[in-house]
Amino acid sequence: MTNIYLPHLARIITIQDDTYDTKTFGLELVDAEARNTFRFRPGQFLEIAVLGVGEAPFGLASNPNHPEAFFVTIRAVGSVTDALHKLSPGDIVGVRGPFGNGFPFDEIKGKNVLFVAGGIGLPPLRSLIEPMLDARSEFGDVQILYGARSPADLVYKNRLKEWETMQDVRFMMTVDVGDSGWSGNVGVVTTIFPKADIIVDNTVAFVCGPPIMIRFAIMELLRLGFAPANIISTLERYMKCGVGKCGHCAIGHKYVCLDGPVFSYREMMKLPERVV
Ligand SMILES: Cc1cc2nc3c(=O)[nH]c(=O)nc-3n(C[C@H](O)[C@H](O)[C@H](O)COP(=O)(O)OP(=O)(O)OC[C@H]3O[C@@H](n4cnc5c(N)ncnc54)[C@H](O)[C@@H]3O)c2cc1C
Ligand code: FES
Repeated sequence: MTNIYLPHLARIITIQDDTYDTKTFGLELVDAEARNTFRFRPGQFLEIAVLGVGEAPFGLASNPNHPEAFFVTIRAVGSVTDALHKLSPGDIVGVRGPFGNGFPFDEIKGKNVLFVAGGIGLPPLRSLIEPMLDARSEFGDVQILYGARSPADLVYKNRLKEWETMQDVRFMMTVDVGDSGWSGNVGVVTTIFPKADIIVDNTVAFVCGPPIMIRFAIMELLRLGFAPANIISTLERYMKCGVGKCGHCAIGHKYVCLDGPVFSYREMMKLPERVV
């Protein structure tokens, strides 16, 4: 029987500086068989360990259609993330997973899709946006609304430029505070809702970002007429095992690591505590 706590070794193949505190790590599993059989769904997460320091959960940010090398985008906020930021290409980390339920994909084919991302809420959504763009004709209108604290906080700047010019994606971004080079919208992400011509009918909205942004974005979507079942978000809870054993991430009878991290707002409303 395989030990669920035993990590695979993964090699860092690329490191991209996204912002002053956020880096994107490209990884591949060292073991050839594990690498060839590794698969994940959009919205799933990994437990990544810096050997000798500790382990923490991170959302897979890359396209699941290319699982042989995958990437995670990590903000330095504490011991594991600080240690990760000190590593270099070629260094080895431990990887367990993928874990969690993931976003619906096949279930929403034929529907319009709205993404509302704040800060480093964009990385987990990117694991859904990219395969959706691969299968673009199978979805209706695709709209991405992205907000960050400042222009310096925007992740994936090169990819954002491509989304801006794509004919079949409606992309808008905003920053809370602009700078001298910023000519776009200034204000939190919900301030672009009135300008975004949001389609409510037959649309599923995916919302990811800091808790305060998720709360206000969901309130605004409900006001526009979205049904709670058509608003999908992710919950962050302090995790240990990642596999439903330790109870650290429990909210009532649900484990965020196992039953989530993806929940519809209708499911969130049924949880015994207020989560957004
Ligand atoms: C499903 C999931 C996906 C995630 N995806 C990403 C991602 O893609 N990128 C990313 O950068 N981060 C992501 N995170 C967040 C990341 O896992 C945490 O920030 C993690 O704690 C970082 O570990 P650390 O050791 O660097 O920091 P820590 O030392 O854990 O400290 C980080 C922060 O958490 C607080 N904290 C520490 N212990 C506790 C506790 N017991 N209870 C509550 N708060 C505590 C600290 O005060 C500090 O503010 C994700 C979290 C989850 C649950
Ligand atoms: S992290 Fe252990 S039960 Fe979820």
